[in-house]
Amino acid sequence: MASPAGSGAADTYADAPDYHRLVEAAIARLDPDAKARLLSGQDLWSLPALPEIGLASLVMSDGPVGVRGSGWSPDDPSLTLPSPTALAASWDPALARTVGRVLAQEAHRKGVHVLLAPTINLHRSPLSGRHFEAYSEDPLLTARIGAGYVTGLQESGVAATLKHFVANDAETERFTVDNHVGEQTLRELYLAPFEEIIATARPWLLMSAYNSVNGSTMTEHRALQIGVLREEWGFDGVVVSDWLAARDTVRAIEGGLDVAMPGPHTVYGPALAAAVRNGTADETAMDEAVRHVLLLAARLGLLKGAGPAAPADRRPSPLDGAAVARDTAARSFVLLRNEGGILPLDPADDTISGDGIALIGHAARHARILGGGSATVFPGHVVSPLDGLRAALPAGTPLTWAQGADLSEGLNSAADGFTLRAVLHGADGKVLADTPLPDGRIRWMAETLPGGADFDALDSVELLGTFTPRTDGPHTFGTRGLGAFRLTVDGATLFDGLHRPADADPLEAVTGRPVPRGTVDMRAGHPVEVSLLAREPRMSYGSLRGVTFGLAHREAPGEEDRLIEEAVAAARAAHTAIVVVATTETVESEGFDRSSLRLPGRQDELVARVAAANPRTLVVVNAGAPVEMPWREDVAAVLLTWFPGEQGGAALADVLLGRAEPGGRLPTTWPARLNDAPVRQVTPQGGVLRYDEDTSIGYRAWQRHRAEPAYAFGYGQGYTTWEHEHLVLADDRTLRVRVRNTGSRPGREVVQVYVSAPEGLKGPDRRLAGFASVTADPGESVEADIALPERAFQIWDTATRNWTTRPGRYVIQVARHAMSPTLDAELHIPG
Ligand code: BGC
Repeated sequence: MASPAGSGAADTYADAPDYHRLVEAAIARLDPDAKARLLSGQDLWSLPALPEIGLASLVMSDGPVGVRGSGWSPDDPSLTLPSPTALAASWDPALARTVGRVLAQEAHRKGVHVLLAPTINLHRSPLSGRHFEAYSEDPLLTARIGAGYVTGLQESGVAATLKHFVANDAETERFTVDNHVGEQTLRELYLAPFEEIIATARPWLLMSAYNSVNGSTMTEHRALQIGVLREEWGFDGVVVSDWLAARDTVRAIEGGLDVAMPGPHTVYGPALAAAVRNGTADETAMDEAVRHVLLLAARLGLLKGAGPAAPADRRPSPLDGAAVARDTAARSFVLLRNEGGILPLDPADDTISGDGIALIGHAARHARILGGGSATVFPGHVVSPLDGLRAALPAGTPLTWAQGADLSEGLNSAADGFTLRAVLHGADGKVLADTPLPDGRIRWMAETLPGGADFDALDSVELLGTFTPRTDGPHTFGTRGLGAFRLTVDGATLFDGLHRPADADPLEAVTGRPVPRGTVDMRAGHPVEVSLLAREPRMSYGSLRGVTFGLAHREAPGEEDRLIEEAVAAARAAHTAIVVVATTETVESEGFDRSSLRLPGRQDELVARVAAANPRTLVVVNAGAPVEMPWREDVAAVLLTWFPGEQGGAALADVLLGRAEPGGRLPTTWPARLNDAPVRQVTPQGGVLRYDEDTSIGYRAWQRHRAEPAYAFGYGQGYTTWEHEHLVLADDRTLRVRVRNTGSRPGREVVQVYVSAPEGLKGPDRRLAGFASVTADPGESVEADIALPERAFQIWDTATRNWTTRPGRYVIQVARHAMSPTLDAELHIPG
């Protein structure tokens, strides 16, 4: 298998010869209580120190777009990089490696040893709520990007965690769903990225998923966690549970789960020590788990006597995080349409500098830079598209902003027009703390309540203040979170009751959508008092304890017509209109799946109206996953920017004005309509989700059904044109492809290679077998070398339970994307 981002990359964090001896010596000095304690989180994010063996506490943090650290609050900001779909769109493992290095710097800054990333589940269906957080529909692209990311982290002394093992490809009923996946499909698709990254980049941890696979919950899945992972693949790292995924002491330890998180109350710790002492759990299984944790500690330099695998003086040199964030974003943007070469814009053009640019869309000013859920980090500084363009356009170029539409069909966090604070009360009515609240949303961990308030003493929390409407008419108010609430607006009680639906996700209080509670007629400019009282504010689930609820609001509807008219007028008056359309935190997030690919709110109507008013309308799509774009043929350009991280607006200006090329290619097929997508079933039936499509996901399925997506896997235009001139296939199955830049700008091309099985031979599917990127100046020819892995010619044979190479005459296609072969060759694999 190819090595990540250059050969021998994983050697930069090789184990020292004395690790084995040090680990064994440490184990010998631990009694069952200490061993069991080490396997159980001591709090939300760390494992305990064991001073008796010179072991320091090990700290973990989410991932993957930044390092959040041990808190969950804007007070502890993190460099925020583009989301995983964006990184994969670069098709550049070396860039993923650079991103890993930058994240390691952040981890060192925050005292974090283990990053809970990358997410390497696949894009089985575009409806998955966490689609933005996984790389691709293709296992090979996923593996190559993931391996680069792991390498960058670990060579910088921070451990990576492959997650979520395995088949955690949707959110609905995620804690309990039993995914039924055929053996061949599991091997060829869902296990494949785990297998390749373990072989090439040797990650130090892997996270066991919430879901079941074929009848066994993953944290207890002996066949996969021991049989496949340890015995077949030789994984020697730590298997950590997803947060709250471990359910049973004995079944988990014997099923190959090393560490149960989060603490302090888990199925390990005292429960495991007792099970070992009374003989219901096997002590050797516990020792094996301890061995894995101590080896990880040695690799990180947390075990006395062990030098870290990547010592500080051999780590890569420091990088400028903001610069990497900006460059990565630009390299991930995918140019889907560019009629008449309208992009890049020439800001020196007299007509632009005369009538200027109308920038339209809520997200143009309030950038949506990342997806929701545990992938959330808090950026210290965000460059919105408006900020980015304002800074980049020559002084004097008119630039206007109009919101155009409200993104949300539901309610938003109570931010615009609200001045709020939260008052924490004890049982006797005593005020424990009083703190301002910028967006009406409370997300506090028990240990870090405002003013150091004591969680156990907390009786109620009141969120109160004023709201000054911008619009006349009925305003809707709602609540977010679980528990007993009383909501009062302008003296009227809109809700007084309990909200605790039986089918709620266990993390509903953190990730759930707001619920509308009533409307109040209001007059613009007249402030009213609002109050939301939470009578049972303490939330706990397993070891998770905190306070999470919020006030939500939706503007009176009349406002929208006016906003759209205003945007259309701005577009008409400008030389060029740029509309930024986006999804919201209630559309793309952990905790739920989507039911539609429509852009939320009246954004489709907004784009259509603006495009009708100005033929020079460019649309920027700020979404982590596919959305329907019914107007795509009616606008001059479509640029996909994903969730671009904190420097997204600066990168957008770089790309729109031609300082950088939009370097991305789609890592996932973009359907025109949801109904065209091959896999739309993400809701379990009777607790079971059947992967009935087998290996037919993504481009493999589109090709099998001979269906046309809006944009194919691998598609993306860039700012120049290319010709694939010539192909040589060497005996060692390396392809040398000569490509020429036939356009007028320097650029980067991603050369893709697809392999198809001989006619009539059952499997393997036509699949991506390799890729390489090249850069060239106008007129220049360059060569790309791509090695074809043995796996491209193999299937998983369920009879022999092994990989088998299928002999025959294969077609090797060089392509610009999955549906546009440019050159081909034949390769005969003898029987
Ligand atoms: C997510 C994981 C995450 C963990 C800790 C879980 O809900 O599935 O990806 O690492 O929480 O935040």
